[in-house]
Amino acid sequence: MGGDSVLLGCDYNFEQWSPAVWREDMALMREAGVGLVAINVFGWSHLEPRPGEYDFAALDEIVELLHEAGIGINLGTGTASPPPWLTRRHPEVLPVTADGTTRYPGGRQAWCPSSPVFREHALRLTEQVAARYGDHPALALWHVSNELGCHNALCYCEAGAAAFRVWLEQRHGTVEALNRAWGTAFWSQRYASFDEVQPPRLALSVRNPAQLLDFQRFSSDALLAHYRAEAAVIRRHSRARITTNFMVTAHIRALDYWSWAPDMDVIANDHYLDHRLPDPAAELSFAADLTRGLAGGRPWMLMETSTGAVNWQPYNLAKEPGQLVRDALTHVARGADAVCFFQWRASAQGAEKFHSAIVPHAGTGTAVWREVLELSATLRRLREVEGTTVEADTALVFSWESWWATDTEARPSQDLRYLDQVHAAHRALRELGVTVDVVAPGSDLSRYRAVVVPCLHLVSDEDAATLGAYVERGGRAVITFYSGIVDPDDRVRLGGYPGAFRDLLGVVVEEFAPLLPGQEKPLRNGGRATVWTERLRLTTARTEEAYEDGTPAVTRNDFGAGQAWYVSTVLDLRDVLVKVVDAPGTQKDTEVVRRGPYVFVINHGAKDVEHPATGEELVTGQPVTGSVLVPAGAVRVIREQA
Ligand code: GAL
Ligand code: ZN
Repeated sequence: MGGDSVLLGCDYNFEQWSPAVWREDMALMREAGVGLVAINVFGWSHLEPRPGEYDFAALDEIVELLHEAGIGINLGTGTASPPPWLTRRHPEVLPVTADGTTRYPGGRQAWCPSSPVFREHALRLTEQVAARYGDHPALALWHVSNELGCHNALCYCEAGAAAFRVWLEQRHGTVEALNRAWGTAFWSQRYASFDEVQPPRLALSVRNPAQLLDFQRFSSDALLAHYRAEAAVIRRHSRARITTNFMVTAHIRALDYWSWAPDMDVIANDHYLDHRLPDPAAELSFAADLTRGLAGGRPWMLMETSTGAVNWQPYNLAKEPGQLVRDALTHVARGADAVCFFQWRASAQGAEKFHSAIVPHAGTGTAVWREVLELSATLRRLREVEGTTVEADTALVFSWESWWATDTEARPSQDLRYLDQVHAAHRALRELGVTVDVVAPGSDLSRYRAVVVPCLHLVSDEDAATLGAYVERGGRAVITFYSGIVDPDDRVRLGGYPGAFRDLLGVVVEEFAPLLPGQEKPLRNGGRATVWTERLRLTTARTEEAYEDGTPAVTRNDFGAGQAWYVSTVLDLRDVLVKVVDAPGTQKDTEVVRRGPYVFVINHGAKDVEHPATGEELVTGQPVTGSVLVPAGAVRVIREQA
């Protein structure tokens, strides 16, 4: 995609600037080596100022300016946010929250995913845009809507309720089947017909968890249907690739991207460091690995990230010197073939006026601008990395359905959160220097030496069998607590936990025994267990780690030709994983990732490190023999000598 460079791109909200600034920006974009620009993401109220009346003058001009500058266009359909006239004429398109209150325009994305009225208007605009620019030579990529479901994923309005009923009938067939799936024998919830079913609006008590789960599935499907509808219109006018920007991040969980990925011509993710998390850099690496998993291991694009602070966290931290380059190259190390920033020029007005950009409020005489130029030069030197793939012999199973099922309202402990457990497993592997592929439940595991399965609470019989067969044939699995407990209808698998994995693991758990905040249970190895324990009995497994009283905390079961490990509490997972995976072991703060013949060494620490390597270092262009010096905060990329 990037010609002579790993692609550098950005969002350009040109509507916010005058034509004089556009011209200045084209020159600056060339100076910065920008190769792809996303435009018209929020263009609707400019393109269609009044219903059915179109004005493409400004967009035409920008398209030509970018074309003349030799910059590829990532063209938005412009439907991300409806114009004021639409919500005024048709207030029924506005989203409704779980408490039944309407969310009004004034922000963005004020539309219901299931609204036929919104859909009709959005497709009409898409048609105009696609017909006008569909075969423009500068068009590199289509950008459907924007971050579908960022704010409006769950809508509880009447149009949504009607669509939910249709979806339920398709999934369950009959109302009797729905009653069985949702366990409506409980609390007098039995339905006589689909017409009686509502979306899970707020109730006085805990809501039906199976209903909540199906509503999550429905809502993800509803937005995917919107994507498909816009993409189908585009396809009639254009052969360019089509995608939308995913949000593989810690705070958005409404879209089951495993089911979306096959529809995308290229996988694109938006990622911002999240300083609400204990280890934001570790989460970046996880998100990049998961995005690569969605891309089936092939290269993907970072469609949005920030040069510095965002504007939507409680504390919006600026990046440290060097961090812009380091974060960007971490995505490249883990499979990105494009790095794009939101946004080109920092807004002077509007809700994002304090969001960082490539051109800050202070202009180009700034450290941020200089660091973007440095990144640009580095991406040019990394050109040969493009198209190569990350090699991993360990997999980590990730499931949005298990996320939804685990984090439901009534659960054994509120400190039990799916993503915490996934992050803990990924972080432990990363600290051991192990690069992992993130895979969907039920994936073919045969090429992996080990598979880590954190908190796979909901699992189908087939997906559980795939994992069992993998171990039987000689694989090694590490499964952590709260896995295998419910089937896809959120029905508990009876006979003792961990349900679907009882035989594979050779244990029976009679009872969960969560701990209070701050409470710890000492382990024999000197470690400590927190958050969660279980009353666990061995059947065929043996104890690998015990509490001080001798009861099992970690077990291992030889199963066929392989091994199945069970971790029944929260502990330092490195102590377990080091016995199961091939861990090169790494210095603290140094992240090492292999992509094709290239080794990325990322130094997150405050001290320079030496890393063993021989070959050519691409960032500095120097040969290295025996070891490479990676300065504090820097990244080095070595093409290894065969
Ligand atoms: C994304 C969005 C962009 C911008 C950015 C700010 O959610 O797609 O439009 O809002 O975040 O971080
Ligand atoms: Zn709705």
